[in-house]
Amino acid sequence: MQDPVLILGASGGIGGAIARRLARQGSGVILHGRRRDRLDALAGEIGPAAAVETADLTDEAEAAALFARLAAAHTALSGLVFSVATPFTKRLTHRTGWGEFDRQIATQLKALHLCAAGAFPLLAGQAATTRMVVVSSEYAIGMPPVKTASYAAAKAAITAYARVVAQEWLGRGIRVHIVAPGMVRTEFTADIPDAWLDDHVARLPEQRLTTAEDVAEMVAFLMTDAADCLYGSPLQVSRAERR
Ligand SMILES: NC(=O)c1ccc[n+]([C@@H]2O[C@H](COP(=O)([O-])OP(=O)(O)OC[C@H]3O[C@@H](n4cnc5c(N)ncnc54)[C@H](OP(=O)(O)O)[C@@H]3O)[C@@H](O)[C@H]2O)c1
Repeated sequence: MQDPVLILGASGGIGGAIARRLARQGSGVILHGRRRDRLDALAGEIGPAAAVETADLTDEAEAAALFARLAAAHTALSGLVFSVATPFTKRLTHRTGWGEFDRQIATQLKALHLCAAGAFPLLAGQAATTRMVVVSSEYAIGMPPVKTASYAAAKAAITAYARVVAQEWLGRGIRVHIVAPGMVRTEFTADIPDAWLDDHVARLPEQRLTTAEDVAEMVAFLMTDAADCLYGSPLQVSRAERR
């Protein structure tokens, strides 16, 4: 049987869609998040191909314990998906305290680094190619909107990080891919007022938002040999206008 894919942030809207999509194509999935009830419900939906793990990935000891448990239970992972985010305060940059930047950097760069380093022994040197997919944001590749500096900067940081690691891990048999989604309706965007969102949608080329399923389809593709040449190239997955 194929080694499982670890999905970090599977209790979220996009991570959950990725888990369902990968399970549908026959992958075993390890569902990670902090909310156990969410993960158990998703595992119940997916069936025996799903296992559940919880950890706060901004906590070094919790992340280390997560990868120690995984190493005890599995000889390898076939993939790792990083789909983690915490909401940010939408304020002008000069009115944003450092604590907000700290929280975003911890949830993105620190968490990704702890997980990439922790997962490396389970991904490297396997008989078949293994993969890491980092969910970034289109804010990191185009012009980010105002009042997003803490989040956009943290996403820019993980995008640069993943591009470096994509080269370092190539010779170890690990492909690193980056997806850069447009705005998706999930809990992460739940604080955006409906009136603003309706106006935003009306101005999109297709008058519809990107969906979690759009992102999941691209992640499923990136998990195949057919996508190998895209390593390290941020892939915009978005129904927004191109800038
Ligand atoms: N939604 C969008 O418009 C959009 C657009 C572009 C990119 N993205 C990116 O897509 C990814 C998924 O976002 P989403 O919309 O699915 O958000 P979401 O529904 O809010 O899910 C976020 C996930 O991150 C987990 N998480 C947050 N802080 C954590 C921590 N300290 N330790 C461990 N897990 C933590 C959450 O776990 P618990 O809930 O269990 O705590 C949840 O599983 C993120 O990287 C986000 O930046 C989203």
